[in-house]
Amino acid sequence: MNFKKIGVCLTLASLSMSLAFAQTAPKIKVGLMLPYSGTYASLGNAIENGFQLYVKEQGGKIAGREVEYVKVDDESEPSKATDNINKLIKRDNVDLVVGSVHSGVAMAMAKVAKDTGTLLIVPNAGADAITGPMCAKNIYRTSFTNWQPGYAMGELAAKRGVKKVITVTWKYAAGDESVKGFKEGLEKNGGTVMKELSVPFPNVEFQSLLTEIAAAKPDAVYAFFAGAGAVKFVKDYAAAGLNKSIPLYGPGFLTDGTLEAQGTAAAGMLTTLHYADGLNSKRDNAFRLAYVKAYKMQPDVYAVQGYDAAQLLAIGLNASKGDLSKKGEFEEAILKAKIDSPRGEFTISKSHNPIQDIYLREVVGKENKYKSVASKALADPARGCSL
Ligand code: BEZ
Repeated sequence: MNFKKIGVCLTLASLSMSLAFAQTAPKIKVGLMLPYSGTYASLGNAIENGFQLYVKEQGGKIAGREVEYVKVDDESEPSKATDNINKLIKRDNVDLVVGSVHSGVAMAMAKVAKDTGTLLIVPNAGADAITGPMCAKNIYRTSFTNWQPGYAMGELAAKRGVKKVITVTWKYAAGDESVKGFKEGLEKNGGTVMKELSVPFPNVEFQSLLTEIAAAKPDAVYAFFAGAGAVKFVKDYAAAGLNKSIPLYGPGFLTDGTLEAQGTAAAGMLTTLHYADGLNSKRDNAFRLAYVKAYKMQPDVYAVQGYDAAQLLAIGLNASKGDLSKKGEFEEAILKAKIDSPRGEFTISKSHNPIQDIYLREVVGKENKYKSVASKALADPARGCSL
């Protein structure tokens, strides 16, 4: 046999081997642990929509493996989170878990993921600890740390001449850390937080807080709420007439995916986030068109984070040839990648959190319109992570 013939034989052999692999490759079982009920239900649904849209765009397969889902409603309830993720891992034998939205739930998940070595992709929850002291080789995030949009807004508010601010939040990790990031950005640039107000999660009784704000007359209010709670807070703030005299700032969760319900109460609000309406890039336009076609609704930041969770999985799994046990190859590819997101290209830091542009947005009609880049390629400080 001459060399040419040997070459043809080898090519045919490798072709038939990869065909055989594609036919026999086991399905990849993805555990979706998200809130499908309660104040964050719409966020959970958008994340799942985004994730599934990316997988469908790949023909339903990632790295040659068909994707199947096992879903759990985590109810944004931290006390049930350890049991919920353990069931996915031990009873349902999922290959990886995608979740969740609520920082308290996600921190419990991260602990189990770290102890069991299960791959965890966090598509929202911003708990700083997940890519800080709890960081691990098998835990990735495609969203943000609570510090990131908060810090960007703090800097921006101070630069706009805001001196005295009251902060309002739900009393749990996400709200506390968002306020902490805001305060750091504000105080570095000459402003101060005069009072920190809070209500327990997911309480929406805001009247006494609004009375306190009206009496204290700060230059501005910074608020962290999301989902149904954000709808109620922004409407109550406007109904009390405070939006006329005291600007309401926040991370973009305060107005993302909520504008239909907030109506004119949100008009003119300025927020900071890693996504915006009107980015008008080829990538984002194509994503938005596909999302509207698939789900008959506009995407929001949560849909983008879900879409990018599937993209990140594909990058790692393609590099490890569909084999999740090749953790080194999986990680190396992700750390090298420029993720082609609808939000704009971003990279993943050594602590496994996005390094990304944070945009300033303004509510115009039903949109969080892009105004400018508030903070370019902002990386979380990842305090306490030793990866
Ligand atoms: C969180 O709990 O981390 C969170 C929830 C909703 C929006 C943003 C952050």
